Parts: sequence; structure tokens; C-alpha cells
Amino acid sequence: MTYLDHAATTPVLPEAIAAMAAELQQVGNASSLHGPGRRARRVVEESRESIAAGLGVQPREIVFTAGGTEANNLITKGVFWAQSTADPKRRRIVTTAIEHHALLDPVQWLTQAEGALVDEVPVDRSGRVDLEAFEATIARDPEDIALVSVMWANNEVGTVQPVAEIAAIAREYRIPVHTDAVQAIGHLDVDIAASGLDAVSFSAHKFGGPPGVGALVLSRTLDPVPLIHGGGQERDVRSGTLDVPSIAGMAAGLLAALAMREERNARVEKLRARLVEGVRRVVPDAVLNGPEELDSAHRLPGNAHFSFAGCEGDALLLLLDAQGIACSTGSACSAGLAQPSHVLLAMGADEVTARSSLRFSLGHDSCDDDVDAVIAAIGPAVERARAAGSAARRV
Ligand SMILES: Cc1ncc(COP(=O)(O)O)c(C=O)c1O
Repeated sequence: MTYLDHAATTPVLPEAIAAMAAELQQVGNASSLHGPGRRARRVVEESRESIAAGLGVQPREIVFTAGGTEANNLITKGVFWAQSTADPKRRRIVTTAIEHHALLDPVQWLTQAEGALVDEVPVDRSGRVDLEAFEATIARDPEDIALVSVMWANNEVGTVQPVAEIAAIAREYRIPVHTDAVQAIGHLDVDIAASGLDAVSFSAHKFGGPPGVGALVLSRTLDPVPLIHGGGQERDVRSGTLDVPSIAGMAAGLLAALAMREERNARVEKLRARLVEGVRRVVPDAVLNGPEELDSAHRLPGNAHFSFAGCEGDALLLLLDAQGIACSTGSACSAGLAQPSHVLLAMGADEVTARSSLRFSLGHDSCDDDVDAVIAAIGPAVERARAAGSAARRV
């Protein structure tokens, strides 16, 4: 099997499995006062400290959640509610059109259910936020903005955003600024304190921890209204019994991912360069989407995202799957119908191109054989998908 869908989820690292397995054999609710409870609490707090040290933040700034989607929902809804309650004028959220649905959809919900207003700042053809447009959007009426949210790195095309510049502009106007760093943490050099951000979402299963756990890094100055009420865990922002095995697994996974980051990125970038060169050689009209620069200041190390003219991305995905190659179109499928990628549309692609894309994402266990398998299979797959496409157009 050739697994090239690490951006969807990456194999859990052995260190994370060991930490989880050890915790699953223990008993104790981290909120209980007795010995087993205190032991569980100690594991949670040690995990919190180790995650905080890895990310350059204070332990008390980490709010554990059930993943990136929940962290994004908590920050968007929670801060919107808090801000618009304190000052009814603050109803605007400034974001981009290339965010993950885990950010776009709660923001969309806020517009429909709560009267939020949204500004989506444009991106250029490489998927990078237009900083001038961003500043102009903020400056238009900074007093009515509840939150700025711009992702650290895009999950489809891998574009790394100028997050520090964005944070600096937002802070000039004293507007809270959040980033969805689900694709970045464990992969890029993320120094949250230096970046000047107020809130950062991340998710364990993207860097080698278990699925279903993540966190919101939340500055002490932000006080979002909770989505979940109950036992008052996690600064009263996120109630619910803490998932000690998953939290321990996430901490161990992050530590291991950060320790191997430079060596792994160098290896993965070499493999990715060979993949890009090979795909372009076999399919000369394949278009590499996202930044041309293949370095981690511009693009996620494992990301290679192509459009293949005349093909449906889904057809290609299934043809490659039949050859044992797992990759992704990167875009959503709604009611069984392939949707054009909202990210490619925002980057200026037409609808047909935005449906003809495939994302290969490499990770820590990727190897030369994986790249060879894609280079061998992609030519015939594109030919068949093109033939199927033109037959469908004739009917
Ligand atoms: C950029 C981004 N944000 C949020 C999410 C959602 O995270 P989770 O799967 O932990 O809910 C993903 C997952 O694909 C993502 O890529």
C-alpha cells in the first residue's frame, strides 16, 4: 500500500501508542481528589507542560479539545459571542476564502444564526493572503471586528501564510487574532509566542498523535463563551471529563514529531521534489498548484497538489486507489457529487480546473517506493480519466 494522504491523517507514532497504552491500563478521573485521580491529573498537567514547552507558550494557555474542528468552533463562536455581547457593534469576522470547512462552516453558521458579518480577504494565485487587502479590510472599520482568523498553512495546496505579519496588523488595532495551525504544528517552525497570536488551533492526528484530540492555545486575555457547559474543566471554557490516554498520546506524539522534524522534513522534501519532477515528466501538462517555491517558508514540506486538465479528481483518485495508492482530491464531496475545490476557486481557477485536482501528501514513513508507485501509475490513470471524461461529455 502506498499511503500518500498524511495531510488527512498520519500514522500514530510509536511513542504516542506507548503513552496511550500505558494510560489505558490505569484508572482515575483527572478531576477526582483521591490518589488515582491525582495521578491522572499529574499526567494531564505534565502533558500540558510538555506541549506548551514544544510550542513556546504557557501551560495554562492550553485548552484541550476533541480536535481541530472543536477548537475552531470554540474560538469563532465563543469569541464572537463574548465580543458582540460586550459591544453589539463588534459583529465582523475577518478571514479568508481558503480556510478549512472546520473554520468556514462555524463562521457561516454565525452569519445565519447570530447576525455575524464576514469579510473574506482574497488570496493570490499561489494561495497566499493579500496583505494589503487584509490591512485595508481591517482599517475600514476596526471597531466593528470581533475576530481575525487566518490559517497558518492550507490543507489543500500547502501554502504557508504570513501569519506573523497578519497578527502584527491585527494587534495594532487591538483585535483578537486566531490561526488554524492544524496542518502546521509538528511540521513547520511554529513559535506561537513570537508570532503574537491570541489563539491557535491544532490537532494530534496530523502530527502522529491519536485522532479525536487537539487543543486551542488561548491567551489569558481572551475569554470566549463556552460551547460546552458542565463540570468546569479547562478554565471553565471546555467542560467534560479529560481524555487522559489521548492527551498523553498527543504530548508524546508532539514531542517525537518535533524531535524528528528537521530530519524528516529534509527527507520528505527530497521525496516530494522527485514526485513533482516525475509527475511533470510523465504528464507534461500537469499543473502544480500552490507556491512554486518548494521550501517550508512557502509550502508544507509533504504537499504536492496538481491539476490534471480533462480529468475529474475523483475518477483519478479511484483509479490510483485501485493500484493501491491512497491520496486525496483535497476538496469536499457533497451528496455524492464532486464539488470544485473552494480553495482553487479562491486562487482564481475555473470550476473545471478546480474539480481536476489531486493532493499527494507525504509524511514520516514515506519512502522512494511510494514516489516510484505514483510515477508509474499516474500516466495511465490520467489517460483513462481523460478518456472517461471525454466519453461522458459526448453522451
Ligand atoms: C486546516 C485544518 N483545520 C481543521 C481540521 C480539522 O481537524 P480535526 O480533524 O482534528 O477535527 C483539518 C483536518 O483536516 C485541517 O486540515
